Amino acid sequence: MGSAFIVTTSSGFEGEGRREILKLLPSSEARKLFFKGNLYMECSLPEVEAIEALRAADTTYLGRVFPVDAEVKISAAKASVDAISDVVSGIGDLGEGDTFRVSCTRRGSHEFRSRDVEVTVGMRLEEETDAVVDLKSPSKTVVVQIFQDFAYVGVTPSVNLLVKEIKRFRKYAKGERPFTRAEFKIREAIKAFDVEVTNDFRVLDVGAAPGGWTKALAGMARRVVAVDPADLHPSVEEMSNVTHLRCRAEDLPDDIGMFDLITNDMNISPTESAEIMNALAELLREGGAAIMTVKFVTRERRRHTREAIGILEEAYTDFKVKRLPHNRNETSVYMRKKT
Ligand SMILES: C[S@@+](CC[C@H](N)C(=O)[O-])C[C@H]1O[C@@H](n2cnc3c(N)ncnc32)[C@H](O)[C@@H]1O
Repeated sequence: MGSAFIVTTSSGFEGEGRREILKLLPSSEARKLFFKGNLYMECSLPEVEAIEALRAADTTYLGRVFPVDAEVKISAAKASVDAISDVVSGIGDLGEGDTFRVSCTRRGSHEFRSRDVEVTVGMRLEEETDAVVDLKSPSKTVVVQIFQDFAYVGVTPSVNLLVKEIKRFRKYAKGERPFTRAEFKIREAIKAFDVEVTNDFRVLDVGAAPGGWTKALAGMARRVVAVDPADLHPSVEEMSNVTHLRCRAEDLPDDIGMFDLITNDMNISPTESAEIMNALAELLREGGAAIMTVKFVTRERRRHTREAIGILEEAYTDFKVKRLPHNRNETSVYMRKKT
């Protein structure tokens, strides 16, 4: 028996997402939906096999994958909630011993909210079946994906809800472009080096302007102290957990406290940058991590990395070096403070 899915993709890269699916699952069909970043995919393989093939593959454009059992034509009216409930009820995949959660995503304009769908469908299923609602870790999930005039519904073991990481980001409409793509670089580095940033962290970000890294880090940590003589983007400057020290990293005031992580994206020579990192190590807690970009100021890339690490070895250990997709004329170095 075949299977069907809604697959989200990087917005503006639906064509690439579709090609990725067809390459992995040649027996499938995928078409763009009217709402950007969404594909409807049908496959001749059973649901689990298709999901496993997508799960195992290293993909670039695919995000979430929602199994679909049925399609419902709906309208903007409230009565559509009952139409959706009727179809979900007819799928009949829930029984004794099952726990479930209804998860609705609504796109478009309707006289009802996603929550109305979740509550109505959930109550109906609890009435009609022996399954019970469990919002935290349900064994099954009832998926309702609404695209204005259509709802795609499915009942699936929760493990079949696949979440893949989109690695190429959207093409931005005019005026929508982020103020810097550097934000992606620090996210990539944190992931690639497996750095844990928790919400009690104090982070020192040197060479911070215009603030892409600071913004990303401020979303993960308790406080980010951003150091740069240049301006931060206003949207970063006004973040409540960001402190901007408008000075050079060599001229920090004495009383700025200790940090759990230091990040450095200064556009200066690697050796100069490494010397500054060594001086900053006294502000890093024992065993704390640091991420630094080595800027290739000449074509002798290896030499720059080697020289920088040669200096950094005085204060740091456990070096890892990676060129990440967002690194152009540079590479990223991870290290930990020597104990
Ligand atoms: C590539 S930009 C940093 C981009 C930043 N990571 C972001 O996400 O927006 C390099 C920055 O390093 C700063 N910089 C250069 N030398 C510095 C120094 N000695 N101390 C502090 N910042 C410095 C520059 O002013 C510049 O804003």
